[in-house]
Amino acid sequence: MPDVTKRSSIVTDAESVTQIVLAAMSNTDNPRLKEIVGALVEHGHAFLKQIRLTDEEFEQGLDFVRQVGLTCTDSHNEVVLLADVLGFSTLVKALNNSAHDDRTGGALLGPFYRGGSPRYELGESLVQGHAPGSPLFVHGQVRNIRHEPVRNAMVDVWQASPVGLYENQDPEQPEMNLRGHFFTDENGAFHFRSVRPAGYPVPTHGPVGVLLREQNRHPYRPAHLHFVVIAEGYSTLISQIFADDAEYLDSDVVFGVTRDLVGRFERHEAGTGPRPDMNEAYYTLEYDFVLAEGVPTYPTPPIK
Ligand code: BEZ
Ligand code: FE
Repeated sequence: MPDVTKRSSIVTDAESVTQIVLAAMSNTDNPRLKEIVGALVEHGHAFLKQIRLTDEEFEQGLDFVRQVGLTCTDSHNEVVLLADVLGFSTLVKALNNSAHDDRTGGALLGPFYRGGSPRYELGESLVQGHAPGSPLFVHGQVRNIRHEPVRNAMVDVWQASPVGLYENQDPEQPEMNLRGHFFTDENGAFHFRSVRPAGYPVPTHGPVGVLLREQNRHPYRPAHLHFVVIAEGYSTLISQIFADDAEYLDSDVVFGVTRDLVGRFERHEAGTGPRPDMNEAYYTLEYDFVLAEGVPTYPTPPIK
């Protein structure tokens, strides 16, 4: 018989489990990994004690996680989507990149960021070939919290089309349509042309869709542009700018909207406004990004 009075992994009752598991993990060399997994076990066990899952509910939960994994492909990331609809991604962003020091607030990366977007010169269009929809002209400046321009910052942009689909979801759109990156000029300025994006439902063909339906939640995001801004000497900014007149602005399914990230999408009739050469109605968006000093990081694309 083993001596259960010595430190061992033999469980005596429900109360003993947490300490036994923490002890088994106590030799983890990496201190941050030890802290993270240790807290996960402590909070996870506390959750299980509070909720008192039945065996069937536990199996159902495990199967849900399995389905989340199985739904992932090279062009779809259900894991990111789950983190987004649970508010996890927004909470991490809010903790790590809030607007407390005048820098622009962050927003979740989402599951549709792709690496290797085309490089464009300032003023060029993100549209590959012909795109229906209202033209949109975006202008802005990248600067630091001391109001100095940040030159040569990379501004990587991606957005849904006017029908609400990213190019990787839509066989009608050319590869890398409505995705591209620019570098700011000597004044930290950038500008480009695009088309006004539409709001859209997040993908609901997998277990996250099942969950949203069970929760009687709509799956929509308000119209927005995504930005990643990367510059030497600064913390990378991952953010989104939302159209001020967008539907679902106050009920984004992934909780990405903060007041400072709502941009003014100003409508101009043909022949008027800053582009009187336009022979159709168009929109302009002026939005500046403020970076905090730090070490740039490069987000990992959730899809290929
Ligand atoms: C997006 O904005 O691309 C997005 C974010 C979260 C879930 C789905 C899509
Ligand atoms: Fe999006």
